Amino acid sequence: MNSFLPYSRQCIEDDDIQAVLKALKGEYLTTGPAVEAFEKELAAKVGARFAVAVCNGTAALHCAVMALRLPKGSLGITSPNTFVASSNALLFESHRVGFCDIESKSGNVDPDLLEDRMNLDSPGVVIPVHFAGQPCEMNQISAIARKKGIAIIEDASHALGSRYAEGSLVGSCCYSDLTTFSFHPVKNITCGEGGAITTNDEMLYERLLQARSHGIVRKPEQFQIQSQAFDDHSPDRVNPWYYEMVSLGYNYRLTDFQAALASSQLAKVERFAEKRRSLVAAYAEQLNGISGLSLLGEQGQGYSAFHLCVVLVDFQFFGKSRGVVMEELRELGIGTQVHYIPVHFQPYYRSHFDESDVSFPAAETYYEQCLSIPLYPQMEAQDVSRVVAGIRSVLGVKG
Ligand SMILES: Cc1ncc(COP(=O)(O)O)c(C=O)c1O
Repeated sequence: MNSFLPYSRQCIEDDDIQAVLKALKGEYLTTGPAVEAFEKELAAKVGARFAVAVCNGTAALHCAVMALRLPKGSLGITSPNTFVASSNALLFESHRVGFCDIESKSGNVDPDLLEDRMNLDSPGVVIPVHFAGQPCEMNQISAIARKKGIAIIEDASHALGSRYAEGSLVGSCCYSDLTTFSFHPVKNITCGEGGAITTNDEMLYERLLQARSHGIVRKPEQFQIQSQAFDDHSPDRVNPWYYEMVSLGYNYRLTDFQAALASSQLAKVERFAEKRRSLVAAYAEQLNGISGLSLLGEQGQGYSAFHLCVVLVDFQFFGKSRGVVMEELRELGIGTQVHYIPVHFQPYYRSHFDESDVSFPAAETYYEQCLSIPLYPQMEAQDVSRVVAGIRSVLGVKG
């Protein structure tokens, strides 16, 4: 029995620790063979041609936006029900941000509204976010985006291990140009801080590599100044120290010991997803029938790896504010969190964008009601029962 149940936490096992120790005893600390190995494993796992590992999910989104090389000021549309990084990545590249309202049953962008928006505003890119692990309606979103030449970046920070309705894994990029992941400790797998981008497009892959590391290239065929790149006396010989910076990039590299942890965790992604799903199923059964409360369950045919377990609570109906409910649950040893404050509510967005005049009623109503309850692989059946008993007691549910 766990004493305090946070809303989420990492699951680090002995073999994960051994993998990190082995990497620490190796030759490399920063980006080296373990990063390359992790990239190959990730690409193979999700069924994409290429994967690029970076230092966090925000950097992954930034690199993905950079790789598209859209004209400055292009419009990018994402969900208001996300972490601020999804839209900030557009601002980093001086693009404009637009939001599309959500479907309250999934927390994901409403595909019909996004379709209208793509027809009306012709954005350069759309960034659907697979909220809590539930895949967005990518079939519909990609059909219209492809028709109109709009790029797609899937923000799959919550969705490693999730599958679309037709069975392929999120990350395969079968509906998008690029997919990004986060390996922050509360995510489906972790390496402390970490992220990755997958793609099937070789040109985007090369640009991602540049974005990750200062815009630097090292392959002879990429060099632009032949006279500097090659030996004066034997023009076939590349100067061994030579590299070129051909675009503007960042230091978004992942270290080898983090990559070793990521590889070790990646091997467990199916087990973690299955455990999360069984815990959510137990929650669904035990919370069923409570008026004023519902669980954000799986939608359609997709398979959710359930990064989060979200309940929607009508706090007015129960006569208690969310803050009080959270505090009282904490006193019972139960941690909760709110995902998310709609991004357009944030002061920075309010003060910088006309979009703040526009309201997104579904995201706002959803925000008033959402509460993420404990979910992570080490939890057991009795932990679920304890959370449910806590919720019932705090909300005063009879019976
Ligand atoms: C939907 C979403 N996008 C992007 C990010 C950013 O990832 P990171 O924290 O690894 O930078 C997060 C992480 O919180 C997220 O939840």
